[in-house]
Amino acid sequence: MNEPTPDAWRRVDAYFSETLVGHDPALEAAVADQTAAGLPAIEVAPVNGKLLHLLARMSGARRVLEIGTLGAYSTIWLARGIPDTGTVVTIEAEPRNAAVAKANLDRAGVGEKVEILLGRAADVLPTLAGGEPFDLVFIDADKESNTIYLDWAARLGRPGTVVVVDNVGRGGEVANPATTASNVIGTQRGLEMLARDPRFDATALQTLDAKGWDGVAIALVTG
Ligand code: DHB
Ligand code: MG
Repeated sequence: MNEPTPDAWRRVDAYFSETLVGHDPALEAAVADQTAAGLPAIEVAPVNGKLLHLLARMSGARRVLEIGTLGAYSTIWLARGIPDTGTVVTIEAEPRNAAVAKANLDRAGVGEKVEILLGRAADVLPTLAGGEPFDLVFIDADKESNTIYLDWAARLGRPGTVVVVDNVGRGGEVANPATTASNVIGTQRGLEMLARDPRFDATALQTLDAKGWDGVAIALVTG
């Protein structure tokens, strides 16, 4: 049995990526242009992008809500997982990111399926109330606001809506009850809400991938 040293788990992630995800010019160009524009390299790993894509397909999602667009790497994965008649609504606070995202989505051929809403998600989310429910919600923005985003995911979803929260492992810090990092505390509050709030049933998995040691929570809206 090998020990899960960083070298070993990076090799396994590369093997999974090469074997099951492969290469895609539009996704790779999206990351390259995001980097060239000076955006941080905090998009999801390829294996995680494909997980989002498969969850959209498995759940038969037609309407997807993404909180935190960045350069639209995950948005492209999600948009490719829904029918042409479906929509991804993605919220981005930073206009420069939204411009990079728009170009990346158009080049990937999914621009027509994606609506980018500019603004702080906590301000934008209430404007979505009263619309058709979302079938899948991906939360990947400022971690301090995760409980606000989860509340809106339940309100804007329906029983059966799939909710995914990125970055719930935070290099192991999530299990540190004495942490003083606001993003980790926000992540902990979000997980506690998923456990306690009767609108959700949830689990979380650690991830060791191209983005390091982190995790992903997957929840079902139950009511
Ligand atoms: C950070 C945010 C993310 O969504 C992510 O996937 C990785 C890092 C961050 O803010 O540092
Ligand atoms: Mg993230």
